[in-house]
Amino acid sequence: MSDESRMPRDPVPTGVELTPLDPAFRANPYPVLARLRAREPVHYDDVIKRWVLTRGGDVESLLRDRTMAKDGRKANEGTYMRLIASSPEGRDFGILLLDPPEHTRLRSLVSKAFTPRAVERLAPRIREIIDELLAAVAGRDCFDLIEALAGPLPVIVIAEMLGIDPTDRADFKRWSEATAMGFNPMLTDDQRAALARQNAELDAYLERVIAERRARPGSDLVSALIAVEEAGHQLSDGEIVTMCVLLLAAGNVTTTDLIGNGVWTLLRHPDELRKLRQDPSLIDNAVEEILRFESPVVETARIATEDMAVGGCPIRRGESVLLSLAAANRDADVCPEPDRFDVTRPNVQHYSFGAGVHFCLGAPLARLEARLAIAALLERFPNLRLADEPLEWRAVPAFRGLARLSVLV
Ligand code: HEM
Repeated sequence: MSDESRMPRDPVPTGVELTPLDPAFRANPYPVLARLRAREPVHYDDVIKRWVLTRGGDVESLLRDRTMAKDGRKANEGTYMRLIASSPEGRDFGILLLDPPEHTRLRSLVSKAFTPRAVERLAPRIREIIDELLAAVAGRDCFDLIEALAGPLPVIVIAEMLGIDPTDRADFKRWSEATAMGFNPMLTDDQRAALARQNAELDAYLERVIAERRARPGSDLVSALIAVEEAGHQLSDGEIVTMCVLLLAAGNVTTTDLIGNGVWTLLRHPDELRKLRQDPSLIDNAVEEILRFESPVVETARIATEDMAVGGCPIRRGESVLLSLAAANRDADVCPEPDRFDVTRPNVQHYSFGAGVHFCLGAPLARLEARLAIAALLERFPNLRLADEPLEWRAVPAFRGLARLSVLV
């Protein structure tokens, strides 16, 4: 047999083929991930120097494994997590990239603001914001859903929680969009320079807001963070800035993508859309199924702090491990018929908000905004459908979302 005939016809993907920088992966990552899960569920990617895990069971157990770290300083030189931690314009993302005990202490200081009960109190105001945004497109035959609703909604909600002056909204939105680029270790020089500028402007702005609230406290989250005192320890201005930046970076683009991916998926599955229109009480379940089926965050990563083995493969201390949440969500061992979108699916299980100590702090808020936004859209536009336009997915590693979504009403 020649060497060539022994090669699999469809080789296991590696490096850039496993990132949204590859147009095929960006357009549809699921066939590539399924191939990897079937052939090599614990795979070493020699180009980006990381293990890639695609089975639901492995992903869940590593998310919950307390020996797995997120602090890039614990990663070996040249590995993926070290690259993210040491990139010059990479931001300090506070609790997202810290390990216990620091992580536990800092997270507890903000968690109260994001409990399901605290968030539910925001529902009437979120409905008002959605109504205002949709009123702005009233009478139009066609609009970009991302620009009109999915983009601005989470930014306005978090800006109001932080007590940001409404006249600063446009700047705040621009800075907020830039924060998510900090997760991208593959920027061009121009992008790096632009990002550094935006970061500096946002930091200076937040420092001014903190100084104002120190002088005149309000009922907003920044004032609450200033007032917080734990065992005699108060948060420094720097720690408060970091926390605010994390809320923008982790919460805005992701919620935009949940709404965008959700509407796109519903409009491509008319039977499911019909079920939801006929029984609007299915909205909570539909949002869980959207999270599973088209997760806005497709992957996260951890660092092994001890030598270990997964699926018989040795993973050494200091190595980076990419956990594919998107692949785990579509694993038939986690969910029967995983490639079928079904808004009535019972007990939807997914890893789109992670699991374990870093489980998404903003999950109740993201769920609430998506439920209210999608319900309002369906109610207001009984003939909503996709415009016949090519799709444009953003090329940002770890995130999956549309740059535009033109809809006809
Ligand atoms: C659909 C929208 C969202 C998705 C899919 C999402 C997804 C995630 C995921 C997967 C993680 C865990 C990362 C890991 O384990 O490595 C995470 C963490 C986090 N998320 Fe979200 N998120 C969303 C919305 C939000 C919102 C609205 C906020 C806040 C306003 C938020 C704040 C955070 C924070 C602060 C963390 C870090 C928690 C920690 O490390 O302890 N997220 N998110």
